[in-house]
Amino acid sequence: MNVGILCSRVRVEEKLLFAAFETLGMPVQRLDERQLIVYPDRYRPDVDVVLERSISATAGLVASQLLEAAGVHVINDSVTAGTCADKVRTTLALTRAGVPQPLTAIALSPEAALEAIEQIGYPVVLKPPIGSWGRLLARVNDRHAAEALLEHKEVLGGVTHQVFYIQEYIEKPSRDIRAFVVGTQTICAIYRHSPHWITNTARGGIASNCPVTPEIDALCRQAALAVSGGRGGVLAIDLLEDPQRGLLVCEVNHTMEFRNSIDTTGVNIPLLMAQFVLEHGRERV
Ligand SMILES: Nc1ncnc2c1ncn2[C@@H]1O[C@H](COP(=O)(O)OP(=O)(O)O)[C@@H](O)[C@H]1O
Ligand SMILES: [Mg+2]
Repeated sequence: MNVGILCSRVRVEEKLLFAAFETLGMPVQRLDERQLIVYPDRYRPDVDVVLERSISATAGLVASQLLEAAGVHVINDSVTAGTCADKVRTTLALTRAGVPQPLTAIALSPEAALEAIEQIGYPVVLKPPIGSWGRLLARVNDRHAAEALLEHKEVLGGVTHQVFYIQEYIEKPSRDIRAFVVGTQTICAIYRHSPHWITNTARGGIASNCPVTPEIDALCRQAALAVSGGRGGVLAIDLLEDPQRGLLVCEVNHTMEFRNSIDTTGVNIPLLMAQFVLEHGRERV
């Protein structure tokens, strides 16, 4: 079996993944999507299974589709990746599966967005449908801010800012939960504490261990199955603690960072990921 990791920049995470495969005695090729030139009718990549770790969601997705078309087993598969990379599609998948999430409205014009914001009531959260690390998220506290933000998006934003993904603001404690799923198992979770409402560790959130309760486990499995067409995958699930409704799924990530979560949880996340890739690769070869 030939194993590959698809990535352009090698972050701490990818270094740990290469090391994990080495621990398991499995040589791994690095595939860099920036070097791909693919003629689909004659593409014969020298790999059986690939772990997709691109920083660019778009490039990662296209590369995964090209690899899959050539018969390679990609983790996460392109359907799962396509769903997770787009918050609109994630919300649709979670809705279909009945997974609890914050009240979310999708609008396609600034006028409709303003109406949806007023319907939901302040504060609301506006998110770019495709994005991560808490970038370009806005918490909108009143109508004046909403009007200004929508005008700015219309005038200054690119096409992706013409899709308005609007969410009720969840009055969570000063933290959220990030849980890791490998296959269909919730392997560990962290709290991300922050005085800021955006708790991403990329934005200064501080990680501490979060015990995986049966409730967290059940919800994360449900969310992982929902975004992957029942196949599961290697995923990170962001959860918000609503004071009344309990846990809600905020989003699902398919090429997550985990450098802050290994020592914090005591769980060897890259090793479990590598084992999962090898098990699945063997099934297919
Ligand atoms: N509806 C919400 N209510 C309260 N906090 C939120 C809400 N949505 C997101 N957040 C906060 O912002 C962070 C980033 O949001 P998320 O949807 O995960 O976007 P990203 O893809 O940028 O990580 C979350 O981890 C959480 O701390
Ligand atoms: Mg997130």
